[in-house]
Amino acid sequence: MSYYVTTPIYYVNGEPHLGHAYSTIAADILARHMRQRGEDVFFLTGTDEHGEPVTQEAEREGVTPRELGDRYAPRFRQLAAKVEASNDFFIRTTDDGHMKRVQEIVQRVYDNGHVYEGVYEGWYCPRCADFKTESELVDGNRCPIHKIELTREKQDNWFFRLSTFQQPLERLFAERPDFVTPESRRNEALAFIRQGLQDVSLSRPTLKWGVPVPWDTEQVIYVWFDALLNYVTALGYARDGEDLTERYWPAFHILAKDILKFHAVYWPAFLMAAGIDPPKRMFIHGYLLMEGHKMSKSLGNVLDPDEVIAKYGADALRYYCFREVSFGQDGQISPAGFEARYEAELANEYGNLANRILSMVGRYRDGTVPEAEAEIELAADFEGAPERVPQLLDGAELTQALEEIWRLVRRLNQYVEETRPWDLAKDPAEAERLDRVLYGLAEGLRVTTLLLHAYMPESTSRLLEAIGEPGRELSRFGSRDGGQRIESLPPLFPKIDA
Ligand code: MSP
Repeated sequence: MSYYVTTPIYYVNGEPHLGHAYSTIAADILARHMRQRGEDVFFLTGTDEHGEPVTQEAEREGVTPRELGDRYAPRFRQLAAKVEASNDFFIRTTDDGHMKRVQEIVQRVYDNGHVYEGVYEGWYCPRCADFKTESELVDGNRCPIHKIELTREKQDNWFFRLSTFQQPLERLFAERPDFVTPESRRNEALAFIRQGLQDVSLSRPTLKWGVPVPWDTEQVIYVWFDALLNYVTALGYARDGEDLTERYWPAFHILAKDILKFHAVYWPAFLMAAGIDPPKRMFIHGYLLMEGHKMSKSLGNVLDPDEVIAKYGADALRYYCFREVSFGQDGQISPAGFEARYEAELANEYGNLANRILSMVGRYRDGTVPEAEAEIELAADFEGAPERVPQLLDGAELTQALEEIWRLVRRLNQYVEETRPWDLAKDPAEAERLDRVLYGLAEGLRVTTLLLHAYMPESTSRLLEAIGEPGRELSRFGSRDGGQRIESLPPLFPKIDA
């Protein structure tokens, strides 16, 4: 089976921050997990380089939009690498391959009769590259997201007949209840559709920076259609001489709630208009908040991922984001919160557990996992976990799946305390029991670490190597007999000085 997962493509109008890294890490966890399940995975991320959000910043800085893209696109690419994203391609909307395919698809939508020329007037936010309705405005005429004052704009341009897709969209949502999750976001999108859809601009007459409209090269394609199409165009040129569309489309999209309408409403309608299947599913996550506000460039309250990674490591960052904030909801993050979880959960609960098990097998059994049967009270608690976690991750429930895995970590700690292997080791009559206890602990650690691998690829790889686990595929408790050699390991999550 194939699995295609995407992140939003990020605007190149500033330095990437932790909010961007968050979506990328989420998609990466899913990509890695699916690879562990033997799926044929394609994972895409990249940058959105056209439109007002980029042009305006370029003007402000006195550079060209292309220069801005060339400055920031590599920063986003580096960020992906730093957070250990295993993306198969990095798309830039300035790629020739992308621009050519955008024109082809937009032409198809035009040929299919879904485009006309018209006039539009409304409140326009250049940061969102979107018109706002009267009811959306806050504090007079300000953008609800960026809080900047908006001006009324009138445009002569090409329109996409979104209004004619109301019924097809309602049908799509009815036929596929999990098309948009969580359910609250699905309801939001559906309410938007049901209130009646207006046609939307397909082009911008006043802007030069973008993909030219193929039948009217004085105008450029509206940045949102240009950007959304990246999910399809990339498959056409990511691999030289190969078209991956058949193999991977449709996609599972990961995005935050700020761009729900574009993905859940405009995008499937536009694809239908082009005669392309709608996406498979999308998961809409919330915002990482700092001191109560969305972390964003315009608000200036950003956490620099470089600093966080330098201090805690990329794995700890990946873990923290999905442990602290329930994926799908908004949630506060803070350096103090980081430190607390790092210390209590990564260093103590998991890191110490691993080191304890390694050293007990080393000390009491000369570094070889005993070939024994696990005690039923431990085995029973692992029952079903390798099925429940994948099921949750099928729906991108990253926090719930992690909670399920962490239950196993805690169970192993509790089992150490219950069985007290150090006491058993003192009594030769308990040798057989000690074999069973140590086998259970090593086996539990192996299964749990394989499940954690998608979340924390680097540290789990080190541990899996130390416990003699060659592969990364998920594994059932008890499926390995013991007998493997175990090496010692420096602490996985060393204590950090404040
Ligand atoms: N370029 C458009 C997206 C086009 S996709 C076809 C865009 N870019 S953006 O740079 O503004 O990125 C928005 C996305 O970045 C959000 O949807 C989310 O995935 C991520 N995030 C940015 N800040 C975030 C937080 N503070 N918290 C969580 N996610 C955040 O919109």
